[in-house]
Amino acid sequence: MTPRAVVRIGLLCCLFVLLSLQHAKKASAQANETASTGQTPTYTSDGKLIFPAQYREWIYLTSGVDMSYSPNAMKMDHSMFDNVFVNPAAYKAFLQTGTWPDKTMLVLEVRVAGSNASINKSGHFQTPELMGREVHVKDEARFPGKWAFFGFDDADTAKQVPKEAACYSCHEQHAAVDTTFVQFYPTLLDIAKRKGTLSAGYLKDEAASSTKK
Ligand code: HEC
Repeated sequence: MTPRAVVRIGLLCCLFVLLSLQHAKKASAQANETASTGQTPTYTSDGKLIFPAQYREWIYLTSGVDMSYSPNAMKMDHSMFDNVFVNPAAYKAFLQTGTWPDKTMLVLEVRVAGSNASINKSGHFQTPELMGREVHVKDEARFPGKWAFFGFDDADTAKQVPKEAACYSCHEQHAAVDTTFVQFYPTLLDIAKRKGTLSAGYLKDEAASSTKK
């Protein structure tokens, strides 16, 4: 081999090593990103859900204002917003199938509404003051009913809300798709209609309210 050929082979080897190092670095950065944005449910050893702290980087589904589920609800002295977010992978799957894949996480955060501040004269805006954060998780291998609720106060971890709680029955009986309230998520309802994934409970509620009109 000529010295030139040796140099050439040497250079090629270097290039190859560099390229594979770069590739490995990229793959591990991607893995870290998924882990740090907490896009799949993670639990403590005693079965508490770890709050997905990066949920504000997820897909935004809706904001409800002063929603109430009973006809004679108490009038509150202040208004509230609730905002719903879902992990991006589950959102993408929903666009394809009209329903949620395993490992879906939906976060509902409740915020105090403000009205008199800065230049605002009427209407409401959202304030930094959080009143609660709740997570709805689909984890088929873990929960017998596939889904579970978790309510977080200020802590980063929470125990599962017991199965007897009203959360489960209301969501099971009235939510439009797979125990989630897609009837209030404007970008998703049409997809569920087209894919035929609306729940029997929701269709029954709709039929009952249309005969009342
Ligand atoms: C009487 C019915 C009812 C009960 C009881 C109820 N919810 Fe909901 N929930 C709703 C409605 C309606 C929405 C949609 C909110 C919106 O559109 O902003 C919702 C949305 C949610 C969401 C957003 C994801 C999804 O599943 O659509 C979470 C998380 C949630 N509720 C948690 C809870 C928890 C935890 C409890 C019990 C402590 C609970 N809910 C009890 C009616 C109910």
